[in-house]
Amino acid sequence: MKNRIKLYALIIVAATSTLFFVQCGGGDDAASNDPMQNKGIGPVKTVTIGEIDQTMVAEGKEIFDAKCTACHKMESKYIGPMLKGVTERRTPEWIMNMILNPEEMLKKDPIAKQLIKEYSAPMANQGIKQDEARKILEYFRTVK
Ligand code: HEC
Repeated sequence: MKNRIKLYALIIVAATSTLFFVQCGGGDDAASNDPMQNKGIGPVKTVTIGEIDQTMVAEGKEIFDAKCTACHKMESKYIGPMLKGVTERRTPEWIMNMILNPEEMLKKDPIAKQLIKEYSAPMANQGIKQDEARKILEYFRTVK
């Protein structure tokens, strides 16, 4: 009988500490799961956004049309997600890191990991340079 009480006590302690552990872990994840907080993983740490720069928009659209339209359309879902309004659901840093560092993003970032479950193809690394990714972002800002 005593042993059984000890056993129950042990189970309760184990269960409570597991719960505690899970909750703490969950807390961290919640920050990176909030799409408007998550900056993604990659070279881009902060992006400064100002007035729309039309020269950058035009150049960004050109790069997008050449390197991204095999899989993306602005107005509808295709091989990849629809990109209209993407700046309203992701941070600028996340978008640029997804363009520049998709392999690591798909492995480690919670939002990217969720996306690849929905889409059968992986987002491709198109060898885009950081300043080009910034121009693509500027173009995305104009399509809402
Ligand atoms: C080979 C197909 C392919 C190409 C080429 C491609 N993508 Fe993707 N992209 C995807 C897929 C598929 C996803 C969804 C995530 C996944 O399944 O990997 C995605 C996701 C994204 C996302 C995240 C969208 C969201 O809703 O959060 C952005 C932004 C993006 N791509 C931008 C680009 C840009 C910019 C280019 C061109 C430089 C590009 N992609 C080229 C297939 C592609």
